[in-house]
Amino acid sequence: MAQANKRPRPIIIGVTGGSGSGKTSVSRAIFDQLHGHSLMMLQEDSYYKSQDDVPFEERTKVNYDHPNAFDTDLLIEQLEDLLEWKTIEIPVYDYAAHTRSKEVVVQEPREVIIVEGILTLNDARLRDLMDIKIFVDTDDDIRIIRRIQRDIEERGRTLQSVIDQYLDTVKPMYHQFIEPSKRYADIIVPEGGENQVAIDLLVTKVRDIIRKNEAK
Ligand code: CTP
Repeated sequence: MAQANKRPRPIIIGVTGGSGSGKTSVSRAIFDQLHGHSLMMLQEDSYYKSQDDVPFEERTKVNYDHPNAFDTDLLIEQLEDLLEWKTIEIPVYDYAAHTRSKEVVVQEPREVIIVEGILTLNDARLRDLMDIKIFVDTDDDIRIIRRIQRDIEERGRTLQSVIDQYLDTVKPMYHQFIEPSKRYADIIVPEGGENQVAIDLLVTKVRDIIRKNEAK
């Protein structure tokens, strides 16, 4: 039995996959179906580096699909705090300005933490913190279509800029960093949040880990 004053270690689920693969839908489906437990979602995108000192024109040319674009040390630090049941302050990223906004989101620790992003399985230090590692595998054509729609509607981009960025950085970095991280996944989920069998299996597994942690 867990001691009264010692809470069981929170569970970390890592979700990765290419841009537009449906990472957010899979994460949300797990979130919505894991009733009875406290949960939180952490987006790797929140940890893009601040670029306040970089002129806007330069910011538009940055490779946002390379590990160097992220403040992964801060993400790891905050995950470690959550594992110790400490409250964190999540940075808020502004895609239109390509930098961190002035706000932060105060996040209290939870039993289950879902970390979602393009490079969450790329860094061994992150992988080591995870209990379950998921790769969402979606065809390239579907991903680019989703990306075009999303970037124009939500991130203030033009069609030409989305195409240029895809060919210059998104696609090559996918092959260099994201696709190779598939080998570290415990589960490869084809095609996003519609895959109810995969979601059911994952939810069952998470409940199993929670039970075991509580019994320690
Ligand atoms: N990105 C960008 N401009 C920035 C910062 C990031 O265009 N200033 C892009 C990167 O090119 C990267 C993408 O944001 O490819 C990461 O977000 P993505 O994985 O596409 O979004 P999610 O909604 O998390 O993913 P999914 O569609 O899989 O749910």
